[in-house]
Amino acid sequence: MTKPRVFVTRIIPSEGLDRVRAACDAAVWDDELPPPRDVILRQARQADGLLSLLTDSVDAELMDACPQLRVVSNFAVGFDNIDIPAATARGMLVGNTPGVLTETTADFAFTLLLAAARRVVEGVDYVRAGRWRTWGPLLLTGPDVHHATLGLVGLGRIGVEMAKRARGFDMRVLYSDVVRRADLEASYGLEHTSLEDLLRQADFISLHTPLTPQTHHLIGHEQLRMMKPSAILVNTSRGPVVDTEALAEALRAGAIGGAALDVTDPEPLPADHPLVALPNCIVVPHIASASHATRAAMARIAAENLLAGLHGAPLPAGLNPEAQGHGRSAQPRPWDAE
Ligand code: DGY
Repeated sequence: MTKPRVFVTRIIPSEGLDRVRAACDAAVWDDELPPPRDVILRQARQADGLLSLLTDSVDAELMDACPQLRVVSNFAVGFDNIDIPAATARGMLVGNTPGVLTETTADFAFTLLLAAARRVVEGVDYVRAGRWRTWGPLLLTGPDVHHATLGLVGLGRIGVEMAKRARGFDMRVLYSDVVRRADLEASYGLEHTSLEDLLRQADFISLHTPLTPQTHHLIGHEQLRMMKPSAILVNTSRGPVVDTEALAEALRAGAIGGAALDVTDPEPLPADHPLVALPNCIVVPHIASASHATRAAMARIAAENLLAGLHGAPLPAGLNPEAQGHGRSAQPRPWDAE
């Protein structure tokens, strides 16, 4: 029996990759850097399925160039790199990896919050530079986290986990979201506010929105001006939710207290970018979901989505089930015909 052809755009954990390799004729890009566009186009053109990463742009041009392609399985919960309406219009199924990275990402967002508040990275740099000569009453002081006010921009799964963690620190938690969650307000003592009120009141602001045209530069000059001069901004969502230049300016001018960024715009952020050198800014390379267990679970779901799509079955974590039964997702499977 002929196996379906797939292109996997990076080495993912064996928990998923082994399954894909066993079930498919798989071409796997094994470089650390993403495959160039022309390689994706060439490989995907011959493929029935694509296992993509958030660094790969899966747009209408690619879909039209790859008439055989019937399923795209994204190794990420975020899917702003994929044109979902274009996929649906072409009967192409798309899946992501929700749920399994929620707590891991919230752990990391809270880590960044604590690290920025308590100046952990500056402390490490200080010791490494041989500057630690004595205990100092004023040395590297920062704001308390306990009993401070946390503002959650977006109360999806990860936002809720942040709220749970904040309770352990006796924080007041505000949230702003288009959907009001009265149930969660009661269980976790959350207060719903407008974005503006949240920005004005919060000591820590943590972003948990997807990247959409509506959230692009949600935090820009105007919003940064609304924040307290001591406010610390944490971003583990997507880089373009924040206007990078506006943030650099606000941090340089001391208009806000600090920032801790797992995601940036652009990504990667060049080492000589002004944000990297600012002492009140922590930048790490998009690793919020990078625990062993979470990455393994993401790989398992990505493989399951891919294999389900190849077999014309609903994806366990599908983003556009309405594509099912239309166009390419309904075509006969050539490898079954033998
Ligand atoms: C995602 O999955 O969208 C994260 O940004 C990376 O794990």
